Amino acid sequence: MHTHILPQMDDGADADDISVMLLDNLESQGVTHLALTSHYYSHRDDLNHFLARRNAAYKQLMLSYDGNIKLYLGSEVYLTEELFNNENLFPLCYNKSRYMLTELPYDSEFNENTIGLLNRLIEDYSVMPVLAHVERYSFLMKGVDNINALVRMGCIVQVNVNSFCDFFVRRKLLALAQNKLIHVIGTDTHSFVKGSDYITGYNIAVKKAGAEFVNKCFENSLKILENKQI
Ligand SMILES: [Fe+2]
Repeated sequence: MHTHILPQMDDGADADDISVMLLDNLESQGVTHLALTSHYYSHRDDLNHFLARRNAAYKQLMLSYDGNIKLYLGSEVYLTEELFNNENLFPLCYNKSRYMLTELPYDSEFNENTIGLLNRLIEDYSVMPVLAHVERYSFLMKGVDNINALVRMGCIVQVNVNSFCDFFVRRKLLALAQNKLIHVIGTDTHSFVKGSDYITGYNIAVKKAGAEFVNKCFENSLKILENKQI
């Protein structure tokens, strides 16, 4: 549900042969479906320009990719005021659904402004934010209450699968999982150095959080990619 494999779009894969190798590597670890979620920064890139670049990158990748992973287009959208200068945000959502991978600002505390922006996505744009790698935000990791409040608002929660490998982060993720506050997992694959190991985190997640939890995440992912209610 979270990768930067589309070539030459962001700080992820920088050439299509690298993209293909990353995809083949993930397929060898059991990945069957994958969303291509290049970074979109509305404060420095025009939406139509981004969408045109993304389509061109996807076409370029399709010229050389002949593996079996089912690919879906999406984006990882950094939440800014400028985003709301656009009338329609559905093209940024996963596979033309209503669900949008949303990256919260790192430089501010989680405050009413951030909640206000998320609310605008939900209320004014009918977009369901899928919050990217929530474990990276210390203010969201204080207990489960903050995440719980966001989920009650209508947000979906994504975590990176390799975060289950870290003992301290894992403890927090297991508390979230027990409270049914994690909906989908992703690799956040950027390169062979960052996010290419899927199976280690997957195995630990199955062992520690349970196969039922992981399977539910897969089920949720497919529903999101097909624009069904989760
Ligand atoms: Fe990312």
